[in-house]
Amino acid sequence: MDRYAVIGHPIAHSRSPAIHRQFAAQTGQRMQYEAILAPKDGFRACIAERVKEGFRGMNITVPFKEEAFALAQEHTPRATLAQAANTFVVQADRSLLADNTDGAGLVRDLSSNLGVTLHARKILILGAGGAVRGVLAPLLAHNPAHLHIANRTLSRAEHLLSQFAHLGRLSASGYDDLVGHHFDLIINATSAGLDGEQPALPDGLLNPGGGCYDMFYSQTLTPFLHWAQQQNPRWYADGLGMLVEQAAEAFYLWRGIRPDTTPLLHQRLRSP
Ligand code: ATR
Repeated sequence: MDRYAVIGHPIAHSRSPAIHRQFAAQTGQRMQYEAILAPKDGFRACIAERVKEGFRGMNITVPFKEEAFALAQEHTPRATLAQAANTFVVQADRSLLADNTDGAGLVRDLSSNLGVTLHARKILILGAGGAVRGVLAPLLAHNPAHLHIANRTLSRAEHLLSQFAHLGRLSASGYDDLVGHHFDLIINATSAGLDGEQPALPDGLLNPGGGCYDMFYSQTLTPFLHWAQQQNPRWYADGLGMLVEQAAEAFYLWRGIRPDTTPLLHQRLRSP
């Protein structure tokens, strides 16, 4: 049976095995998918071992996405833009093709599942880490009026700005400089919520009719969505949809079949 895995650190709570098993059952694909913990300094050896064992593909998650990009022999254009990878295809000669399906997953969730228009909208993205790197190009491809990156550490936001500015109308700042600015869509890509925290943001950032999206998800309202609720949004949603959609993209890459994601989306937190 063809074997696949998600590799990260930590990995125990990953929902990817359950998602891919459901895709496999739904599409009648005979495949195995497991979660593997790689030591923080042992990613390369962990991948080499899986390739030797005959794995056909892998998903890569925090904190290895940039290392994964560097390790692969070939890269899709979208992985090259992101300089980070979340999916490996093990090719016939056992070389690795790296892809990045995170941005496609986010954009598909926003546009297809949530009915959000990105074109001509003012978008604010919070954070400047690996999670942002993967989604900037796909968001800019939809021609927003403006995409602003705000981060606690200004230099990281400015670094992303210098790398992606040629792809669209992009700007960067710290959180304090957001006072007086307004956006139609606010996306949280910081990991602050994992520590129960939320960047201190000025009120009045969200335009009437706007919405808020958290790239993270949890059983209960995330700190960002808690903040979002108080901004009178037209809608808000957590990132379970992005997770499911990036998984569907990876599944399509491996198996050539696009699974139906709707049965997996009912557990997500979103406004009515
Ligand atoms: P990831 O790959 O998940 O993006 P990362 O590269 O470590 O992880 O980036 C984490 C992001 O969350 C960064 O933007 C970080 O801000 P800094 O660049 O200033 O470190 C942000 N972040 C984490 N904890 C935060 C907090 N308590 N408040 C605000 N931002 C936070």
